[in-house]
Amino acid sequence: MDTEIKSILKKETFSKEDLVRLLSCNEEESRKIFERSKAVKDEQVGKKVYFRGLIEYSNYCSKNCLYCGIRAGNSRYIRYQMPDEEVLEAAKYAFDHKFASIVIQSGERNDRKFINSIERLLREIQRISEGMLHVTLSLGEQTEETYQRWFAAGAHRYLLRIEVSNPELYRKLHPNDKHHDYNKRIEALIRLRKVGYQIGTGVMIGLPFQTIPDLADDLIFFRDFDIDMAGMGPYIEHKDTPLYQFRKELLPLRERFLLSLKMVALLRIIMKDINIAATTAMQTIDPQGREKALLVGANVIMPNLTPVNYRQNYLLYENKPCLDEEAEECKSCLEARIALAGDEIGYGEWGDSRHFKRRQNS
Ligand code: 5AD
Ligand code: SF4
Ligand code: FES
Repeated sequence: MDTEIKSILKKETFSKEDLVRLLSCNEEESRKIFERSKAVKDEQVGKKVYFRGLIEYSNYCSKNCLYCGIRAGNSRYIRYQMPDEEVLEAAKYAFDHKFASIVIQSGERNDRKFINSIERLLREIQRISEGMLHVTLSLGEQTEETYQRWFAAGAHRYLLRIEVSNPELYRKLHPNDKHHDYNKRIEALIRLRKVGYQIGTGVMIGLPFQTIPDLADDLIFFRDFDIDMAGMGPYIEHKDTPLYQFRKELLPLRERFLLSLKMVALLRIIMKDINIAATTAMQTIDPQGREKALLVGANVIMPNLTPVNYRQNYLLYENKPCLDEEAEECKSCLEARIALAGDEIGYGEWGDSRHFKRRQNS
């Protein structure tokens, strides 16, 4: 009932039961949630959307997450690592176009050569941008020493999705070995915080075996962990992965999308001043997915700067958009989408999470 949703939304803090009720509401009822989350966004983070140019640096991965297209066990893709010149060119593009910030993402690797390459690239990026281009890393679980070296070389934000906050579900979605350990992932997040990064995490939504109470717990996990940034999106099946066999158990795409929008909206209401990404996976299900995410609370978008010749080899999931669009096309496309959502782009601004600044000052 509408009045019930309204009265929950009036509460100062939501209990798990409240979140379960809100996440279970129908399309009509969910409008109330979206109105509220939009108001919170306008009041707390304003209309500015920040660009993070995404560089998909390498698809080598030593892990085997059961949902992911570039898992080590999938031999279908040609493995690549972008040469330094190409990374620097992409970084320069971002800098020249006033993106102010980039994300370097890749499969997880812990070898010396990789760790050194990232450190070298970070120093070069600092040099060519005179320290003006901010770098976020999304390179998986690493030792404290590695996180420290990269931090010292100029990276100040790190994205490490918990993927699912329920340890039992985590075990179902990952191989049962020491490389895929829920506790180790939590420890990595704690380590990142200790080193001083702004921390981003996130989950996939609509996975097989995942329940609405699991998603409510994910939101509570973000709140308890006091994260600075979040990136969440729908799970999308990939036929070369073990999880594909459970595709018949998935929610229909439309429902998975609505659930993802509700997660974004509720997170905005719960954690008013963090940065929330309108993720590419949202657009994979709905052509206007990213605009819709902006309308309900997201304030960060990641235009793809990976050279197009690599993109078909970085398919974490199927039907990923922008396979043939060069950086320039994605940039104009997203400019139009952001305008459609009634927002504006914070060109030349780092767009640090306000939450992080407040956390530091308190
Ligand atoms: N569907 C949606 N998201 C996925 N990711 C990996 N595989 C999939 C998939 N099949 C997400 C994970 C990972 C991020 C880089 O991509 O959450 O952390
Ligand atoms: Fe590797 Fe990340 Fe994919 Fe897991 S989700 S297989 S760590 S790229
Ligand atoms: Fe790449 Fe629209 S964002 S083409």
